Parts: sequence; structure tokens; C-alpha cells
Amino acid sequence: MTDLSLLPPTASIEGDDLRIGGCSLTELAAEFGTPAFVIDEEALRDRARAYREGLASRHPDSRVCFAMKSFPSASMVGVLSGEGLGLDVVGGGELRIALAAGADPAGIVMHGNAKSDDDIQAALDAGIGYIIVDGFDDIERIDRLARQRTPVLLRVSPGIESHTHAALATGGKSSKFGIPVEHVPEAVARMQSSSVIDLRGLHAHIGSQITNLQQFEAEVAALGTLGDFGVYDLGGGLGVRYEPGDVAPTIDEYLEQLVAAAHRHLGRDIELLVEPGRSLVAPVGVTLYRVLTMKQSGLLHVAVDGGMGDNLEHSLYGQRFTPMVVGRWDEPEVLADLVGRHCESGDIVTPEVMLRGPQIGDLVVVPVTGAYCFTMCNNYNGALRPPVLYCRDGAARLGVRRETHDELVSREMGLLAAAHPAG
Ligand code: LLP
Repeated sequence: MTDLSLLPPTASIEGDDLRIGGCSLTELAAEFGTPAFVIDEEALRDRARAYREGLASRHPDSRVCFAMKSFPSASMVGVLSGEGLGLDVVGGGELRIALAAGADPAGIVMHGNAKSDDDIQAALDAGIGYIIVDGFDDIERIDRLARQRTPVLLRVSPGIESHTHAALATGGKSSKFGIPVEHVPEAVARMQSSSVIDLRGLHAHIGSQITNLQQFEAEVAALGTLGDFGVYDLGGGLGVRYEPGDVAPTIDEYLEQLVAAAHRHLGRDIELLVEPGRSLVAPVGVTLYRVLTMKQSGLLHVAVDGGMGDNLEHSLYGQRFTPMVVGRWDEPEVLADLVGRHCESGDIVTPEVMLRGPQIGDLVVVPVTGAYCFTMCNNYNGALRPPVLYCRDGAARLGVRRETHDELVSREMGLLAAAHPAG
């Protein structure tokens, strides 16, 4: 039996084909090409509701702000805003995408460890919910630029070394994010002396892909030692399963413990925010590739038509995935490196992974690529950034179309007139 547990919930095998959201992957590949990101829209909405209802039922004065960095597309903002979620944006760039998608500014919080005047001005102009103050320079900038009382939260680095990949830990003592707890009194005093800064509460985020819920308890406990505030934003960070042997808490288990910890350490008369990214979108997205070539050199290398251009997770964090060859459900397994087509030895989707009977031309589906893959898409070796397809009830909707070759040179100012005639 093929293990479908890492695929989105609507995934089903139909002969040689695999369906997601009722759509045939074979037909999607034929119509939209590969590589492509495929989102199970019903599952996405279900997870958004699990977050919103799970938090509101335990703590009514609350908001779930989708961490937009995990999938910074207006199409994603549209779906999640429609489900009643707010947004966590970083800087003026993500804010502009959010506003273009029609998100309610009041539900937006803005982050950034190095905000520019433009970031702050954009947040002030839009009238967002909270600017998250990340350091003393933010205080100076808001004080200088704001014309009216501006609600802010202070990001604290609670000194917690989270158990995750070092590049994904953000709450430790030497983090570049937030301010260390010993500087909190001075930061609070400075904000209280400003006529325009309205300090409402504290923020912390200790890292990403965290599966040990005790770490969140430690974060909340640390915030509880810093005084009484009306608002607490506890960040994101809940981890997900990437391989069959992985274990991760459910959204409900996470919220149960988090809210209980908040009530214990922070009190009940508070507004509570969370900022999930990965745990909301990673499991509902897959990447669809086609095998371009295979080579036996030491190990078998199965090369697909994407790689580092659409998935930097392995090269940056050593993240492993569990790829499946569509339709080869009962073929014998072979050990292979699933590699990409970019000019780099580190261009590996997942090394040393068992694949069933891969052949040139086969479709390969890589589950759990719904977070941070679209985010870091790039044009390495002239790769075109892939489309995003939302599948639901047998219909596919294009959320983002594939980039074109013309767009690859669209910002170039020195093009040959003959090759690119004006008009
Ligand atoms: N809030 C803040 C302030 C954050 O910095 C982050 C993620 C989140 C929320 C959302 O965390 P999540 O729920 O997604 O764990 N590029 C890396 C992930 C970096 C995460 C950065 N901050 C990756 O590809 O795995």
C-alpha cells in the first residue's frame, strides 16, 4: 500500500494517476507544465479554520496572523483573508502584496529586524494593526515619522535556544531579532516617553519547525516575567512532518498547550496573537516535476526539471522530503539522489531517497513543499518561476502563472534592439 500520509488530505490514487483536490496531476502537468506548485485548497481552508476556531474557542480575544513569508502570494493572502485570518508581513514589500490582495490593514502586523523609513512609512500610511518594534532604531524611526498615536508591540528575544536547525532558531541570546530581555525596561521607558508610540504588548518568536511543545511553554513563561501587558503575540514556529517517521503535534494540540500556558503565565484579560506559517501551508502544497534524465555515477541521480530554482530547503537547511514517482506505485524501490537541473552540486531536492521505478518522462510529486519553497523561488540558470495551482472539487485555478522568458530580461536596460524591437 502506498503511504499517502504526507500528501494533502484529498490526495487519492487512481490507477497510474494521483488526484489532489479532485484534479488529475497528469492533466495538470499537461495543461500547466512542470515544475508547478499544487495546493489542496479545501485542506488549506480547513487548516486555516482549525487555527482560527481553535484559538478563538479557547481565547476569544485573539487573532491568527498568517506569516506571509512562508507563501508570499496575493493568491494565498486572498484565500486566508477570506477565512478570517490576519497577516504577519515583513517590511513594505510583503505589506504591498497584502494590500494589493485586499487584506484588511487592521489585521496586519509588521515585522523586520532592519526596517527602513519606507517600511515604517508604508505601515503608518496603511494604518496596520501593530508595528512590531525590533530594536531601539525602530523606536526612533516611528517617533520621527508617525503623526498620530501608533499601536506597537515590542519583540523580545527570550533567550531560548530552540531545538531546530540553527538557521531556523531565532529566540536565542545572540539572535539578531528582537531585543534581549535585559534591555526591555529601557525600551519600554523610551516608548512611554514618546507622544506617538502606543506600546500595547510584547512579541516573541523562538524559531521554526519546532515539534517539542515544551519550548513554546518556556517562551510564554519568559514573557510572563517581563511585566503586565494587554497584548501578546507568540509568533509561529510549529513544525510539520516531512518524512514518514516524523512526529509533529496537531494544530489543536499546539493551541491547547499554548493557550493554557498563556493563561497560566500571562493572564486571561489579554489579546492573544499567533503567527503560523509552515504549519498552515506546508502540508497542503506539493511540487510537481517531470524526470528529465537519469545517470548512474556512484549513486543513481534522478534529475527533474526544477531544483534550487524552486526549492532551497535541502541546500539551506538539510531538509529532507519524501518524493513519489507518480504511477509507479508497485515498482521495486531504488536508492537515488533526486537532483535538480541547476549548475551546482548542492542542487539536490533530497539525497539518498528510495524511489519506485523512476523513468525519464515520469511525474514526480514532492509533498510538504507548501511553505518557503514558493518564497525563495529564483531565476538560477534562467529558471522560470513556477505557477501556483489551487485545486478544489475537481477544478484547478491558476493563482500565479508561470514566469515567461521575456520576463527574464524585462528589467534589463541594455538589450539588443534587433533581438527585442521596440513596441
Ligand atoms: N513570526 C515570525 C516573527 C517569524 O520570523 C516567522 C518565521 C514566523 C512567524 C513563521 O514561522 P513558521 O510558523 O513558519 O515556523 N526560510 C526558512 C524558514 C524561516 C522562518 C523565519 N521566520 C525555511 O525555509 O524553512
